[in-house]
Amino acid sequence: MNPLNHVAIIMDGNGRWGLKHKNSRNAGHKAGLLTVEKIIEETIKNKIRFLTLFAFSTENWKRPKKEINYLFNLLENFLLKKIKELNNKNIKLKIIGFKKFSKKLNHLLNISEKKTSRNTKLQINLALNYGSRFELLHAIKGLSKKKEKINIQNIEKNLLTKNIPDPDLLIRTGNTRRLSNFLLWQLAYSEIYFDKKLWPDFNQKDYSKIIKKFKNTKRNYGNI
Ligand code: FPP
Repeated sequence: MNPLNHVAIIMDGNGRWGLKHKNSRNAGHKAGLLTVEKIIEETIKNKIRFLTLFAFSTENWKRPKKEINYLFNLLENFLLKKIKELNNKNIKLKIIGFKKFSKKLNHLLNISEKKTSRNTKLQINLALNYGSRFELLHAIKGLSKKKEKINIQNIEKNLLTKNIPDPDLLIRTGNTRRLSNFLLWQLAYSEIYFDKKLWPDFNQKDYSKIIKKFKNTKRNYGNI
């Protein structure tokens, strides 16, 4: 059975779910947040150490302002309400992405990270304003500026995921099969599962089924 240390998720389908059920994309994001909470619980149950969630990409700034503001408000309220609970559950929060948000949100993200930084049960990496190409470019430019050797180890040390093992498993919901500029370097050997369900409909049972399949898959890493 494969050990499962790190799950990454592209939580796709909120907008379509919201339009279908409530005639509002934002209602889909609100429902999607409930799924996030359920999946965190299930991740802990399965003793998985790292969970990376793609919450906002560098390309998502193209969306209408109303939707962007709603998403960041949702995140702000979530942190204000839940950070204590996450901390009590021994969960560490880490933001991967470039923190270029409002002063208030930047501050909230920084204190949430600081408060939970010593926790050890589960590390949640929240990908916010994250894009893989920009991350790689930033890492390589950094190395060249410091006149350091450009090799695999040094690139990894300069990624936003420094000190985080590569995902063993990537799940994308929402019936779409693409990577959308998410962890392109880190997913080199990950097992990938696409689920047809929209993110708000995805549940613990769906997640457990994927975990079970993953555990029974033969991973070759280029070998036979
Ligand atoms: C993709 O669905 C989802 C997002 C861009 C946002 C993800 C946000 C959440 C799950 C809720 C908030 C999470 C936190 C941690 C506060 P989409 O909108 O692209 O869906 P579509 O493909 O149906 O349009």
